[in-house]
Amino acid sequence: MPNDMIIVIDFGGQYCHLISRRVRDAGVYSEIRPYDVRLEELDQLPIKGVILSGGPSSVYEEGAPLLDRSFFDFFASKSIPVLGICYGHQLIGYVLGGKTEPNQIKEYGRTELHVASATGVLEGVDSEETVWMSHGDQVKEVPEGFEILASTDDCPIAAFVSGDGLVHGLQFHPEVRHTPNGQHMLENFIFNICHCEVNWSMESWISDAIASIQNEVGENRVLLALSGGVDSTVVSVLMQKAIGDQLHCVFVDNGVMRKNEGQDVENFFLNVLNYQQFYRVDAQDQFLSKLEGITDPEEKRKIIGYTFIEVFEEKANALAADFGSFEYLAQGTIYPDRVETAATSKSASKIKSHHNVTLPEKMQMKVMEPLKDLYKDEVRKVGRILGIPDEIINRHPFPGPGLAIRCVGEVKKEYLDLLREADVILTEEIKKAGIYDELWQAFPVFLPVKTVGVQGDFRTYKYMCALRVVESVDAMTANFARLDWDLLDRVATRIINEVKGFNRIVYDISNKPPSTIEFE
Ligand code: XMP
Repeated sequence: MPNDMIIVIDFGGQYCHLISRRVRDAGVYSEIRPYDVRLEELDQLPIKGVILSGGPSSVYEEGAPLLDRSFFDFFASKSIPVLGICYGHQLIGYVLGGKTEPNQIKEYGRTELHVASATGVLEGVDSEETVWMSHGDQVKEVPEGFEILASTDDCPIAAFVSGDGLVHGLQFHPEVRHTPNGQHMLENFIFNICHCEVNWSMESWISDAIASIQNEVGENRVLLALSGGVDSTVVSVLMQKAIGDQLHCVFVDNGVMRKNEGQDVENFFLNVLNYQQFYRVDAQDQFLSKLEGITDPEEKRKIIGYTFIEVFEEKANALAADFGSFEYLAQGTIYPDRVETAATSKSASKIKSHHNVTLPEKMQMKVMEPLKDLYKDEVRKVGRILGIPDEIINRHPFPGPGLAIRCVGEVKKEYLDLLREADVILTEEIKKAGIYDELWQAFPVFLPVKTVGVQGDFRTYKYMCALRVVESVDAMTANFARLDWDLLDRVATRIINEVKGFNRIVYDISNKPPSTIEFE
């Protein structure tokens, strides 16, 4: 562990991990701890600064995650600065003797910040800054000796600092990209206020990860769940480096993949990466029969997650006859998968169960998730350093539950086939337009709604296809892509002409939040 670190205290906010992530982007090591972490544990760490995250609670709510005044006294006694963000900011106001109250107007989205004093965390920012707000409560009175640094039209105390310069608060979220100068503000805290040194990189993460995999696995064998996507491919190369032929890779053809995907994945691992211990399992019928009649998104996700494990355990048992038993199941879970499943925090709200986070309780193998703390762009950096070809690294993310969560309502082979054809057309056109690498994802969604159309003088009554094309940096927030009309026109015309089953295409113009990227 490097010498300097920033600790992030988690109050359950969706963006909590993003804070830690932004600190690491600045080249400083950071970890997250739950709000009820013991001070003795923190005392063992080389902490140079503390950030209190946002969270969905209100400080007055029963059972709200709170901190004692002793928490602040502890860090003050060591002259370690504390920065509260959103709920963290309100908590400082509440615990240190100010006033935090619910506000009539809930601020949500982009807001103009009026900066009265560009000092401390706000050093070097303009007198008017765009910031991202998302709160109901607000600080109505600062604790004694605190100075107010900035306000918005609806929030008179949007930033403050204590008289001794050790406690800072921001009502808005500097960690999201929607606050354009947010990284600058965080770096003011990290470098000017906490005096951290740059001491962390992806290269050092890789060597630590390899050492810790070797340590944990020892002489045992690992079965890796390979999907062919960026995440599990990166895990496979990392684990190959760490444990060589103790690694066996299983690719499950689950019937909800894109067109030709099974064959492409097999070719890549057998012929490009030359894996000797790669196995493709055809479980299409097993998945599709279990999904029959299921319309609830959470239920679909759980069925897929459980069936994956079932198939893996069957394969592990079969392989055990030749190689000995498998102690570990490795998978490419990354941080956003866990955030949205509320697996990272005691106080977070569950958005959706990402399939690989929803494991049955009675699993025989222990789960290993080497990328579980990384965001997609960090995973891509690791992959590039490990020498994985760009065509794999730059592939758009594809969710584990695959087309099943892009088929709204019941999943039927007939619907999946329509989606597969539409997906080929959309991807082809996006690539032809030269914008594939600029987009986070571009995919069609099957809507189980029939509408009337007219084709070649005949009435049609067919399904609807939604196109979802988004830009994002880390999938925590996303904007719909403002695609060129002619490109959209080409895609829509081709899908309607070439895919028998759709007669209407709609373009999704919602952002995340409040929508999510996938439909289910
Ligand atoms: P949402 O829909 O939550 O998606 O905005 C965020 C990102 O995660 C991908 N996604 C998943 N990935 N297993 C995965 O491996 C899943 O269950 C899953 N659900 C969503 C999604 O494609 C997007 O990039």
